[in-house]
Amino acid sequence: MQDPVRFDIVTIFPGMLSGFLGESMLKRAAQSGRAMFNTVNLRDFTSDTHRTTDDRPYGGGPGMVMKPEPVFKAVESVRMPDARVILMTPQGRCFDQGLAKELAGERHLIFICGHYEGVDERIRSGLATDEISIGDYVLTNGVLAAAVVIDAVVRLIPGVLGDETSADQESFSEGLLEYPHYTRPPEFRGMKVPDILLSGNHEEIARWRREQAQQRTREKRPDLLE
Ligand code: ADE
Repeated sequence: MQDPVRFDIVTIFPGMLSGFLGESMLKRAAQSGRAMFNTVNLRDFTSDTHRTTDDRPYGGGPGMVMKPEPVFKAVESVRMPDARVILMTPQGRCFDQGLAKELAGERHLIFICGHYEGVDERIRSGLATDEISIGDYVLTNGVLAAAVVIDAVVRLIPGVLGDETSADQESFSEGLLEYPHYTRPPEFRGMKVPDILLSGNHEEIARWRREQAQQRTREKRPDLLE
């Protein structure tokens, strides 16, 4: 088996991740040696007694800016030669399934989680290899955004999902939303499972699912078909 994909998360809120990383699929990915998670506490890389990680902006204005020195030192303490150094920011490239697949093929991902007011521009220009946004809204801190990206990436690492095929069939993997799913009972509060799914005709079922996926995508996300 390959070495685990390594995830380092640089943050002043390591506690926000401990529950998330210790549960469910992420826990199993770590236990099976397919992924390795490490939180890097930014405050451990400060040099003043107050362990300051941010400061007032040059030129004035509201808010605080993340200082470059602790972030550079924190990243340099873990960085391997081919690491992707990802700055989480609403100004970044919008995260999607294609980018998740790309990142799942890397060996080392480092996430820099800043606060929304901003990070010193030299972190962006002199340290980060990538900038990623999880959507057009502003979170108070990038750590939740990093958690979203990590979750989507880890499940695409080969061997992490129990059923190897399940990631190929889901929404977005072929540019379409997923077809509707049903399980027992065949009728629930007057709502019936479509007859075709009970027919046992696998060819017809596959065709029905393809049509449903296309119809759903047309109705809910026409932008995906463009
Ligand atoms: N930090 C704050 N808001 C964010 C967003 N939408 N995506 C990534 N990082 C963020």
